Amino acid sequence: MPLIEEVATHRFERIGSHSHIKGLGLDENGKAKFIADGMVGQTRAREAAGIAVKLIKKGKLAGKGILLAGPTGSGKTAIAMGIARELGEDVPFVQISGSEIYSAEIKKTEFLKQALRRAIGVRISEERKVYEGKVEKIQINKTKHPFNPYVEIPESVVITLKTKDDEKTIRAGREIAYQLLEMGVEEGDVIQIDAETGRISKLGTTKEEEGLFFKKKTEMPSGPVLKIKEFTYTVTLHDLDLVNSRAGGIFSLFFGGGLEITDEIREKVDETVKQWIEEGKAILVPGVLFIDECHMLDIEAFSFLARAMENELAPILILATNRGITKIRGTDLESPHGIPIDMLDRLLIINTEPYKKEEVKEIVKIRAREEGIEISEEALEYLAELGEKTSLRYAVQLLAPASILAGGKKVEKDHIEKARQYFADIKRSTEYVQNLEGMLR
Ligand SMILES: Nc1ncnc2c1ncn2[C@@H]1O[C@H](COP(=O)(O)OP(=O)(O)OP(=O)(O)O)[C@@H](O)[C@H]1O
Ligand SMILES: [Mg+2]
Repeated sequence: MPLIEEVATHRFERIGSHSHIKGLGLDENGKAKFIADGMVGQTRAREAAGIAVKLIKKGKLAGKGILLAGPTGSGKTAIAMGIARELGEDVPFVQISGSEIYSAEIKKTEFLKQALRRAIGVRISEERKVYEGKVEKIQINKTKHPFNPYVEIPESVVITLKTKDDEKTIRAGREIAYQLLEMGVEEGDVIQIDAETGRISKLGTTKEEEGLFFKKKTEMPSGPVLKIKEFTYTVTLHDLDLVNSRAGGIFSLFFGGGLEITDEIREKVDETVKQWIEEGKAILVPGVLFIDECHMLDIEAFSFLARAMENELAPILILATNRGITKIRGTDLESPHGIPIDMLDRLLIINTEPYKKEEVKEIVKIRAREEGIEISEEALEYLAELGEKTSLRYAVQLLAPASILAGGKKVEKDHIEKARQYFADIKRSTEYVQNLEGMLR
């Protein structure tokens, strides 16, 4: 009976307000287009980020870091998301926020260790024996559930796979029958069954299909049904840690992810990976650990990270902050961006600038489209003015309430004006409260 572990590449995505960001919007020479990929303006920072992407892809930035520093709402998180998009599917990008290290149920350093290891990919190429072909015939035999006679469960399957040159009928047990049912495999589909593990992948269908749930169209494979094929997939060091810690004890299976992975397991995994690399079986793909609001990290976390960056198997660190000179958390020391000097020394710094009116206007326009809100030119102009005076976020935030005030119809300037009366920007709100404090004295 094959025991199969799903090993998926982790990819943290907390988009929502960044859903419009599809990349960095650079041309082939690395120059930023004014509006592209959902990005507007901020050209110097975007171009710098583009260079960083190139370095990351070449593996030239491994063990180093980048700091995105600039005022709030100037697109630091947006640019980091853009970098993630540009890196492509198999380069891991892990996003955490500085404050998360305190709220997690595990130790701060353990949380960071796991985050670092999720951000390092191992691209493994493996030759595997597979059955591959078009499903010519599939017959799933069912039997009654041992405890509940009203329920039928699959017991076995007889399946005929066909290629241009070959045809084979195989009989397989319950696990494979289950997978086939769950994946909705039907006649005409092209599938692969791993001969050792029994894991099934669906490659597409040979049939012409239409509609919402159409499958990818593929050709009928050629060659023999049972063959040796090379597979390439990327897992992260953390995936490998998990798999190994599970294999280590039955308890981890019951208690799941809450248990700490021991350092011995990590060392064992590192050794194995290094060996794979030496034998040419694997390639290391250093990814990115993005820590937003990095001024929330404390001195312990920073020194842990600084040490971790020295490690051979280290990802690229991208930090973002909107603080100038501020205290390093956990100390009485002030430091630029609240980051200890020895860490700052390792970072390439990219500054983001406050937005001009034209830029605010374009970003608001993009967000309105993304949120499905129709807005008049006059209202847009007004929001852009407000955004320049207050903040980009405030302008974007007014969109949703204004749309409600407009009854879901086109948003006009009046609706924005009303929304503005209901919801204050930070400056107005502070002034208001300060005035009241004066009254009470
Ligand atoms: N240049 C840009 N192009 C398109 N959208 C942008 C751009 N800059 C910012 N945005 C959008 O504006 C909003 C605020 O930007 P973002 O969250 O990136 O700011 P930030 O610099 O990370 O601010 P903070 O310091 O408060 O975290 C987000 O919805 C973001 O996607
Ligand atoms: Mg941010």
